[in-house]
Amino acid sequence: MTPDEQVAIRRLAEDIPTLWTAPTTTAADRQAIARLMLERVVITVAGTSEKVAVVCHWAGGVQTHHSLRRPVARVSQLSTHAALRQRIAKSGAKEAPPHPLADAPGLWVRDPDGTHIQVIAADKVSPATRDVSVSPPPPTPGKGAAPSRSKAGKARPQRLSHVLLFSPDVPRSVRFYSEALGLRLSDNSGDIIAFMHGAHASDHHMLAFAKSDAPGLHHSSWAVPSIEDVGIGMQQMEDAGYKEGWGVGRHVIGSNYFRYIRDPWGSFAEYSAGIDFIGADDEWIPQDHPLEDSFYVWGPSTPDYFIENHESPARGG
Ligand SMILES: [Fe+2]
Repeated sequence: MTPDEQVAIRRLAEDIPTLWTAPTTTAADRQAIARLMLERVVITVAGTSEKVAVVCHWAGGVQTHHSLRRPVARVSQLSTHAALRQRIAKSGAKEAPPHPLADAPGLWVRDPDGTHIQVIAADKVSPATRDVSVSPPPPTPGKGAAPSRSKAGKARPQRLSHVLLFSPDVPRSVRFYSEALGLRLSDNSGDIIAFMHGAHASDHHMLAFAKSDAPGLHHSSWAVPSIEDVGIGMQQMEDAGYKEGWGVGRHVIGSNYFRYIRDPWGSFAEYSAGIDFIGADDEWIPQDHPLEDSFYVWGPSTPDYFIENHESPARGG
């Protein structure tokens, strides 16, 4: 090795950050560097909580401090548990026994409308980034792009997108879910309807409220990859005998393409594609939309039964 080469290698060894971030340095290389330089790692868990402090002792005596979160099994282990209970108590909502039809773990609360809420410690299940819509494959030159009906396949929901509940007091519901549970208002139309998202990135709405004389379920919404799947979902449900519903259309608030299917109890399940996504670092300013201009961009006329609350006592619910 020439003296020049020795100097170059020595210089590189002194510039570990450059070596670490070099595009040619692989994950395995970084592991090898860390093994050479790291003398000891001390991991301290704060009680039984999710908080973990990590101290790395490096060659030469340097220490670096890091914090991690570990998964925990019970909501009572969370470092935020006491503050969460305080916020719930301050909101006026009451902790409650588990719903008789549900599993028991977690913190059970009745929201201001009396709906059971189960708060559990779990991994985030809503997407961290916007879903990438799967476009249909590009057409083969000289052939039509649409599949034959027998080969169109089935619409398969990928996940639950959101739930819309009836509430006698929409602003009160928004206050509870934001101040006690940490959701955020996305958009609303006066005190008639409001849409809320998760602070750590979610669809434009995970939970929404529409004004009624009583609490009730309006719809659950299921994400599919594209408007093609919304249409195929409509067709397969019609073929199965579920002809009542609304759509295909496109919402203004949330931007999603939709088809609602009326279920045998009078509430709805929605096929939804292309809903707006609010990332954890996105600045989203809620807007109060005029109701008459914010329901849908295009679609068939809304059937009268679409806005009925089948759980309302006035309707025998
Ligand atoms: Fe919806």
